[in-house]
Amino acid sequence: MISEASIDRTIAELFSDIRFPSEPKGLYEPLSYMISIGGKRIRPKLCLIAYSLFKDILGEEILGPAAALEIFHSFTLIHDDIMDESPLRRGKPTVWKKWSANTAILSGDVMLIESYKWLGKGPSHLQDKLTELFSDTAAQVCEGQQMDMDFEDEKEISPADYERMIGLKTAVLIACAAKMGALAGEADARTCEAVYNYGYNLGMAFQIADDYLDAFGDEKVFGKPIGGDILNNKKSWLTVQAMLKASDKQALQDLMGRPAESAEEKENKISSVKRLYCESGLEDLARSEVRRYSEKAMEAVGDIGLGTVRAEVLHRFAESLVERAR
Ligand code: IPE
Ligand code: IPE
Ligand code: MG
Ligand code: MG
Ligand code: MG
Repeated sequence: MISEASIDRTIAELFSDIRFPSEPKGLYEPLSYMISIGGKRIRPKLCLIAYSLFKDILGEEILGPAAALEIFHSFTLIHDDIMDESPLRRGKPTVWKKWSANTAILSGDVMLIESYKWLGKGPSHLQDKLTELFSDTAAQVCEGQQMDMDFEDEKEISPADYERMIGLKTAVLIACAAKMGALAGEADARTCEAVYNYGYNLGMAFQIADDYLDAFGDEKVFGKPIGGDILNNKKSWLTVQAMLKASDKQALQDLMGRPAESAEEKENKISSVKRLYCESGLEDLARSEVRRYSEKAMEAVGDIGLGTVRAEVLHRFAESLVERAR
């Protein structure tokens, strides 16, 4: 079986070799910037891991789709950072901050188009299936992002609405990454679905961990500003749970809706909300919710006859996400 070290090496080479058109610079430079500042690259990695469950050589036909996933994901981040007014990503200035919002819009657009060019390098007999999956997923991500923005104006949302929103904005792309690997590996339909569900549940765990780290992470490691979700009035996992547990909902809603303009007001708001999260025991609860979803991910691939070695590869990948600090 292809080793994890070999997958990591392949990914590092793939992204260090990626070139976008050189002119006009104002359009394409942000693309190279986003790829060069790194990121965890979990989506292409999961795609290659899923592929490696069924094939023993990492050929060109899987590298195109793997690259497409990361390029698409990076495009969503460029636009997400405008929408969330976030100044920092991967420890570096975001594209709208470094250039401008107009640049971030158009460079994001062309990055989405670039992702399709890479997808087109996948196996030709599977193009229809891969493109359908990729496009359905891309539309779902936009739907999830719209819900995320709409929820900023809501006082309270239900856990079911939260799950639907993160399922769309985050989990489907991770599920798509896993399924593309299985599809290109020519796994049967039932196996592809199981691998999709593994990715979906991991994606749910991943977004809850992201919400947790947005409040409790270390900015230097996480690479994004701490407290951004609180300042944006996002309905994160922490907010939704805090609201469920609050003895005085009105007081909590007042605190969360409180405007914060100056640096001092922002700091105060972030620390008050975090104190409340801690008082409700949400730090531990978040960690166990992340673990619960990662266990669900493993259950999804429990009866497709992977065998212990292959199941262990998926288990290790799931653990690496559960324990992440960045
Ligand atoms: C950030 O994704 C957006 C979410 C879905 C939470 P990642 O945490 O994978 O970001 P990078 O690619 O590693 O920077
Ligand atoms: C992002 O959710 C999901 C997508 C980009 C589609 P977040 O807004 O929580 O992601 P970060 O925290 O900015 O990376
Ligand atoms: Mg967002
Ligand atoms: Mg964001
Ligand atoms: Mg976030």
